[in-house]
Amino acid sequence: MDIKEKFRNMNVEKRAYINGKYVESKSRKTIEKYSSFNGMDLSGISACGKDDVEDTVKCAKNAFELGIWRKKTPEEKKNIMLKFADMLECCREELAILDTIETSRAYQNYYYDSIPKAIGAIRYFAEGIDKYYDSAIPPREDAFATVTRCPLGVVGIITPWNDPMVVAAWKFAPALLMGNSVIIKPAEQSSLSMIRVAEIASEAGIPKGVFNVLPGFGEEAGKALALHKEVQGIFFTGSSEVGRQIVQYSGMSNMKKVGLECGGKSPFIVSKNCGDLKEAAKVLAENVFYNQGQICSAPSRVIIEKLVRDEFMELLKKESEKFVPGNPYEIRNNVGCIVSKNQYEKVKTYIELAKRNGAIIYQAKTVKEKPINACCIQPTIISGVENSDKVARDEIFGPVVVLLEAENIQEAIKMANDTPYGLSGAIFTDDLNEAYYAAKGIESGLVHINSYGEDDNMAPFGGFKESGLGKDKSLWAFDEYSQQKTVWMKFKMPSGMRG
Ligand code: NAI
Ligand code: MG
Repeated sequence: MDIKEKFRNMNVEKRAYINGKYVESKSRKTIEKYSSFNGMDLSGISACGKDDVEDTVKCAKNAFELGIWRKKTPEEKKNIMLKFADMLECCREELAILDTIETSRAYQNYYYDSIPKAIGAIRYFAEGIDKYYDSAIPPREDAFATVTRCPLGVVGIITPWNDPMVVAAWKFAPALLMGNSVIIKPAEQSSLSMIRVAEIASEAGIPKGVFNVLPGFGEEAGKALALHKEVQGIFFTGSSEVGRQIVQYSGMSNMKKVGLECGGKSPFIVSKNCGDLKEAAKVLAENVFYNQGQICSAPSRVIIEKLVRDEFMELLKKESEKFVPGNPYEIRNNVGCIVSKNQYEKVKTYIELAKRNGAIIYQAKTVKEKPINACCIQPTIISGVENSDKVARDEIFGPVVVLLEAENIQEAIKMANDTPYGLSGAIFTDDLNEAYYAAKGIESGLVHINSYGEDDNMAPFGGFKESGLGKDKSLWAFDEYSQQKTVWMKFKMPSGMRG
């Protein structure tokens, strides 16, 4: 299949989707950018600003107050969302092409993994909404209180480029099902699929003003959305640096509810009691080198007991060869390029820094055919560094794993927690006591024992510490996009009745 040719023949929409139609940004400004794989000009997506945010919030608020969507029964909302998911499924190839062209991540990843996962998340939440109950306190003799979840109102969603459809679906599906009106600000590197999805949402029956997509720069559209006083919730996935700003924007405006899923430097502990080092190396490579390492929960810090270090290193080198980058448009390739020249330079700078500081760098030897200027980086293993070194502390967001050594598991857990992040973590061991001790000890929102990246819509996903606030996925996500209300009811004994 010629993805480039198919993309050329598509009628690609680049404008914002506001109140049920495509519109230009008021300033007519657009985003200038080029493919990191082949330099294709991808400019022209509307760069919305403060004025566009203003208009969109008005429409979204109006839709919320009218209540055409909000007042639908859970079953009605479910049916529309299920139809929406079916329609997205029919556009699976188109959406995968848009994301591949914009981000230069492997088409294979989008078509077989990301797009189906996003659709699955929408179905999961749709199926959940009419099976999930609110609560009541145990009734008193003369009083009763219900505790129900109310929508927030207008909700802003700011997403990153590393998994455009999945991250957005994790947020917009529960937000919509709770009755909110949503405004999605996709990343400037990956806006096309979400712009298309907005139209599909309308065709599925989501009323105008309820599902809006505002492409633009973070500093302009994203910031204006997060600072808006009529926006009652802001839900963000991206860097911890911007996450911190989002909290401030909330404080500076109306104390809107904030949900954050930020960066990570997740530890992957390998014990000397690990009975299958080959499996551990395989699982590690699959999770740290997939999508050129552009994954928030990537296990990018391996902490290994000295005794098994050398054997593990050799196994990891072999496994890394399976994730060398190649042409993202070739369906057989499992790894494409880094999203942008900027991100590519950032990753390279970290590798150079490690080299300058005397670290040992191993890069996979196999090379797949790709144009000379493509922004790809070979799977990279860095050793001979300390946990306090910059490469071991910062989120690099590239195919780079740092290998650290520990004397024992106690020290490994201490090192694992010596980070501002706390998204995910793992221990590989056959010793049950050790596994339990580590799972309890690792300060992160997720811990895996003898696995990594296990994924199910039923399980919440979100970080401790500077990796975020709140959870994506699972029925708990409905709580994020709503606020609890307690209603007390007091009763008098009807006349003529005795207690
Ligand atoms: P970023 O955090 O700047 O961008 C994420 C989203 O936030 C985008 O939609 C962007 O437009 C928006 N944004 C940026 N500045 C904003 C602001 N002041 N107000 C409101 N919204 C704003 O991430 P970026 O610059 O693309 O990547 C830099 C680093 O961030 C990466 O190298 C990686 O370490 C980390 N990152 C982490 C992600 C994760 O999944 N946790 C995803 C993307 C990046
Ligand atoms: Mg940024």
